[in-house]
This record gives sequence, structure tokens and C-alpha cells, in this order.
Amino acid sequence: MSTPDERESVKVKSAQEIDPSHRLPQRIRQQEILAELGVSALQGASLDQLLNDTVQLTAQGLNAEFCKVLELLPAENRFLVRAGVGWSSGVVGVAKISADLDSPAGFALRCGTPVISNHLEAETRFKTPEILRQHGVRRAMNVILQGDGKAFGVLEVDSRSPTEFVEQDIAFLQGAANILGMAIEREREERKLREALARNETLLKEMNHRVKNSLTIVGSMLRLQANDAEDEQAGELLNGASHRVDAIAKAHDQLTRGSDVERMDVGKYIEALCHDLDESVAQCDVRTEVEEGIVIATDRAVATALIVNELIANAAKYACDGPSGIITVKVARSEENRFMVSVRDEGAGMPDEFQSHGRKGLGMRIIGSFTRQLKATIDMKKHDPGTEFVVSIPLNAPS
Ligand SMILES: Nc1ncnc2c1ncn2[C@@H]1O[C@H](COP(=O)(O)OP(=O)(O)O)[C@@H](O)[C@H]1O
Ligand SMILES: [Mg+2]
Repeated sequence: MSTPDERESVKVKSAQEIDPSHRLPQRIRQQEILAELGVSALQGASLDQLLNDTVQLTAQGLNAEFCKVLELLPAENRFLVRAGVGWSSGVVGVAKISADLDSPAGFALRCGTPVISNHLEAETRFKTPEILRQHGVRRAMNVILQGDGKAFGVLEVDSRSPTEFVEQDIAFLQGAANILGMAIEREREERKLREALARNETLLKEMNHRVKNSLTIVGSMLRLQANDAEDEQAGELLNGASHRVDAIAKAHDQLTRGSDVERMDVGKYIEALCHDLDESVAQCDVRTEVEEGIVIATDRAVATALIVNELIANAAKYACDGPSGIITVKVARSEENRFMVSVRDEGAGMPDEFQSHGRKGLGMRIIGSFTRQLKATIDMKKHDPGTEFVVSIPLNAPS
């Protein structure tokens, strides 16, 4: 198919040919408008705002009654009137126009060049769409709206008056379209970035889900092995290991709920952990008094939870044979920049020799190791009855 050339059939006059003195203030106004649009594009006005400003100001700069941004809908081979000024209601945002030779805009898109038509009624290059006819439009000017990528659509200005558009008017219209094109390109890039970000967030949540599921499977297998173990001590050790794995899996469960993966609400996490432990240690009743809103780094929350897990395991093992069997876990803000976690039981108390030469089992070694890692302190308080371990932890990792 041959490429139509709009300049072949219509001679466009220059401003001098028409009336140089009359056009000068208009040219100055056009320069001002382009500067104004440029500033608002640079200041990052939203695309819709900029589309509206462009149609308003472009119509003004060309003394035209109508202006519109036509967005190309490639799948439909039509344009949508995306923004506009002067049109009767029900046009902007709704009306669609052919992107073929049935419209001046379609013709401009095919030519790839600006198109002026000062006598629509006499046009042979393309047809006049119904909308233009209905609004009594006699002349139109179209330029392609392009970012760096493919065409977004067409910027069209239409008028009822017989005064002709001239070549300098096209330069102004092209200037406005270039500014808008830059903004459209920026918006496209921003949208791509936003989409990529959303994809990453979904991926991260998905990963957390998978890690949690994998850890849950590991925990279940350890429990199965524990139940299967012939040796009671081996069974206990495997059970202990399964609880540690569960405590870490619980962290991933919390992470999939929130939006942040680097930080989490340690109170909520420990509460959820205690709820699970309460169900799995039948002989005692794990109660919680938890302050919410203490948000700390995820790895610090996990270390804290592993300490709590060991303290509850010990309380359940050594201090739940009494009548009450209550274990109370508290999480609260304490001094400035610190929070405290305590686990209290109502058992017979620690063995006397524990402080001096008590054998430290794996539990106490894990507690010691995470306490050091958190730069926390741990206190053991004797109650009547029972024992309370109070861990005081800095909210942030001290540098
Ligand atoms: N809440 C508690 N009440 C009484 N004794 C405890 C309590 N917690 C720990 N202990 C004592 O401290 C010892 C060391 O605990 P731990 O290091 O966890 O090793 P393990 O649990 O493997 O024995 C335990 O053997 C037990 O005698
Ligand atoms: Mg223990």
C-alpha cells in the first residue's frame, strides 16, 4: 500500500502569507504555553493532569474550540478520546474513532507525520468522523504522540472557524505533543517499575510460603521419628528439634501476613508460637500477656522466639507436674529502646546446684548463645512457687 502524503493535496500557508502582524501575540502565547507545559511535566504532574492541561492550553494557543488526546487501542484499531476540551458530554473517556483512513487522526498515524486539514468538507485523503461533523468542525490538525517507544496516539485540535491553521501552528502542536510524549514515556516506565515491584513482592511472599511449608514438613518428619524412636531420650531430643524447626517456620508464617519481610511484630509472633506450644504440651497451660506493636528485625525476632521456645520447653519438662501447670509468657516494652520477654512457671524451682555447677544442657546453651547474639541480658528470679526467666533485649542490634 502506498504511503499517503498529506502535503501532496493541500497547500498549507505560512503565517507571513496570512497575516504576520495579527499572529505575533499568538506566537508569543504559544511559546509561553509550551514553557508552562514543560514545567508541569518536569515537576512530575500526573499523566491525567498533564493530558487535561495539554488539551486546554493547546486549544487556547491555537484559538480553537476543540482539542483532544486520542489514545490508540491497537487491538481495536480505534482511538479512545482520552482527554478533551470543547466536546459535548459523553465524548471524553467514552467515544472511539477509527484509526484508519476514516479519520484525520488515523491518517496522521499512517503517514507518521503531522496533518493539517483546513477544509474538512473537501478532504479526499480521509473521511471526517461523525463526532467532528456533529460539532460543526471545519478544520483539524493532528500530530502523533510518541514517547521513545511506540505511538501512544494522536493530539488533535479542531475548529469551527474559517481561519486557517498555518505551518507555525503545527510546530506549536508538535511541541506540545513532544512534551506530552515524554510524560507518557515516563508514566510507562513508572508503571513497568511498579509492576516489577508488585511481581517481586508476590514472589517474596510465595517464597516465604514455600520456606514455611518446607520447614513444617521437616518438623513433622522429626515428630514422626520422635514417636517412632525406641529410645525415650532419642525421642525427646527429636521432639525438641521438631519444636525448634516449628518456631522458625512460624516466623515465615508471620512474614506472609505482613507487608514487610525485614521486620516483624515480635509480640504477635511469640503469641502465635505460644499458642502452638500450648496445644502440643498437653500437661501445661501456656498463657500470654503480649504487647503488640514491638516491631524488630526478623532475625532478632527469630532468635528471641528460639529463646522463648527453650524456656517453655524447660518449664513444661521440669515445672509442670504441680497442680496448676501454668506457664506465663510476657512480652512488653521496657526501658528506652529495649523490650523484655519473660517466661514464668509455677514449678518446684531450679535445682540448688544449677547456679554453681549445674550441668548446662542443649537448652541453656541455645539460650546463652542467642542471648549473646542479641546483646541481651537474662535474669532468673525465684518465686514461690516457681521460676521466672526475664530476658531484656535491645530493640535494634547495637552497632
Ligand atoms: N523451669 C525450670 N524449672 C526447674 N528446673 C529447670 C527449669 N529449666 C531448667 N531447669 C533445669 O536446668 C537444667 C538445664 O536445662 P537445659 O539446658 O534446658 O537442659 P535439658 O532440658 O536438656 O535438661 C535442666 O536439666 C533442669 O534441671
Ligand atoms: Mg531443656
